[in-house]
Amino acid sequence: MTSQKLIAHGAEAKIFLSNNFIIKDRIKKSYRIPELDEKIRKRRTKSEAKLLQKASEIINSPKPFFKPEISYQIKMPFIDGKKLSEHLDEFSLAKQKQICRQIGESIAKLHEHDIIHGDLTTSNMIYVPNKKDSVFTNRDDERKDKVFILDFGLGFISKKIEDKAVDIHLLKQALEAKHFKHWEILIKEVFKEYEKYKYSKTVLERLKEVEKRGRYKH
Ligand SMILES: Nc1ncnc2c1ncn2[C@@H]1O[C@H](COP(=O)(O)OP(=O)(O)OP(=O)(O)O)[C@@H](O)[C@H]1O
Ligand SMILES: [Mg+2]
Repeated sequence: MTSQKLIAHGAEAKIFLSNNFIIKDRIKKSYRIPELDEKIRKRRTKSEAKLLQKASEIINSPKPFFKPEISYQIKMPFIDGKKLSEHLDEFSLAKQKQICRQIGESIAKLHEHDIIHGDLTTSNMIYVPNKKDSVFTNRDDERKDKVFILDFGLGFISKKIEDKAVDIHLLKQALEAKHFKHWEILIKEVFKEYEKYKYSKTVLERLKEVEKRGRYKH
């Protein structure tokens, strides 16, 4: 018999670990009419699975399994590593910088494909150290450290520079709030690799405006 263990319970979903799989189960909202609730949960699950599928083809993200038995669940591989919200600060600064360059590179690729993540915080990122000592692989890319980006629950497709700037803005805020010791150094590393995206300059220009607006809001 397969056992399912609840490993996280967010506002939108319950996350179960079952063998080496994750099941993300979008939970009922009792304030919605049941029929409507079911429709919304199915629609959002479908959208998230689609984005996850696309993302997993271009960056390190868990590739969802097709045809889930239940239409408001996503089944995907369990990414066994260190959640960056909890562990990023433990690494040497050089390592933190390297991790942030990988994050920047992944965002560049996502934005190149007009995928907006929508929730770029370090709790949606898992660091998987390399398998340098592994006897199981000779492939170079399997020997490198990886940063997996999860949770496309708030994601969407957009070509808009504004949406991309806001995406980066969220990450900047997340680093400032959670990893405040070195956040200014770290976001610079993100930007360095983000520059691989051909419209990155325009996005980063827009980011300044997004930030100005934020400041005058209060
Ligand atoms: N494929 C996976 N591999 C390993 N851990 C995972 C995986 N998917 C989710 N998790 C864990 O479960 C947590 C919540 O998952 P996720 O962010 O997708 O759901 P959520 O309901 O949107 O959560 P939140 O509202 O907290 O952002 C993640 O932060 C991560 O710790
Ligand atoms: Mg999340």
